[in-house]
Amino acid sequence: MAILNEHFDKLPGQYLFPEIARRVASRLEANPDLATRLIRAGIGDVTEPIPAACAAAIRQAADELSHRDTFRGYGPAVGHPFVREAIAAGEYQELGVEPDEIFLSDGSKGDAGHALEIFAPGNRIAVADPVYPVYVDTNVLAGRTGPIGADGIFDGILPIRANEANDFLPEPPDAPIDLVYLCFPNNPTGAMIDRPGLASWVAWALERDAIILYDAAYADFVADPSLPKSIYEFDGARRCAMEFRSLSKSAGFTGVRCGWTVVPRELEGRLPSGERRPVHPMWSRRWATRSNGVSWPVQRAAAAAYSPEGRAQVRELVELYRSNAERLREGVAAAGLRVWGGLHAPYVWVGCPNGLGSWAFFDLLLDQLAVVTTPGCGFGPGGEGYVRISGFNSRERVEEIVQRLETLQVPA
Ligand code: MLT
Repeated sequence: MAILNEHFDKLPGQYLFPEIARRVASRLEANPDLATRLIRAGIGDVTEPIPAACAAAIRQAADELSHRDTFRGYGPAVGHPFVREAIAAGEYQELGVEPDEIFLSDGSKGDAGHALEIFAPGNRIAVADPVYPVYVDTNVLAGRTGPIGADGIFDGILPIRANEANDFLPEPPDAPIDLVYLCFPNNPTGAMIDRPGLASWVAWALERDAIILYDAAYADFVADPSLPKSIYEFDGARRCAMEFRSLSKSAGFTGVRCGWTVVPRELEGRLPSGERRPVHPMWSRRWATRSNGVSWPVQRAAAAAYSPEGRAQVRELVELYRSNAERLREGVAAAGLRVWGGLHAPYVWVGCPNGLGSWAFFDLLLDQLAVVTTPGCGFGPGGEGYVRISGFNSRERVEEIVQRLETLQVPA
């Protein structure tokens, strides 16, 4: 009989968002009237149409595919040059990232997991706590951790505390670490690191010969030009960081699916024998082996996001979601709750009042306000005592949430 991957059993329950959906569905079953009032501000899924320039590009691609002389079959697994060039010019102009260091994919969630394929078991791994669960769960499923402890931490993963004392900005640990996952602007807390903060992570990684897996999926939400959008704004980052980016939250591609990973040519790891090796050829090889890449219509749409009209339309979308989050931040504060994030990120992070736990406050917001949030404990033990509210919504719904927050009654 086939032997299954026992590491699945280490993961407690469902992945966070299906679990929330299950709980909301069971509420709706018990109380069908809830459906008309329900506002979903849980999962960070976009609500507005994709930019018109991207939609037009998809239609153009469909047209191309339907004529023999413009038909496209397999393309390069890592993406067509015109898309990689558009991204390099649009995102990394003065940062020295070359088009052939940009590997197109169906999004950064997948790439964060795929990265494990090029790193050997035995790497010492650190993640922030709270954290986007994908970094942890993919390590668990790949057998890179031991079981989960009573403290909610998997054996073999070092949690770096991000809490109120450090403004939810994890600091470089004084511990032997080979791989660290960082995410800025942060999911789930909405925290944004400043230049000295990120520079200290780069210096830390260079000193230890560690690699930073830098998830910048929310980079477009950085509203202050003095804050870093890419890790490659720092000297030496090309030798110590891979960067994940995505069009999901900027161009509204959560359903279209397109992102990329930057792997600089200078980035090296070492084989178990001790020999140093560049990561770039391994990442290329992984793509060639595993995938035929992103579909032609999606690549057309991705390039269109970097056309002058596409860029303006993307900026508009990002500003809607970012300002939604800022509005939620104001509304949460006005309701007398503690709040972080929402300035350079689409998420606000809310302290649960009166000692309530994350799920208890999630239930209260659902039952009293008919608003779905995300319980912070789903992002690791450090998220207990918080909920996340997503700004991915129409402005009308955001205003409705703000109004409902005024009526919130918290049991003493
Ligand atoms: C979230 O809500 O944390 C995100 O939508 C999840 C994701 O991007 O995969």
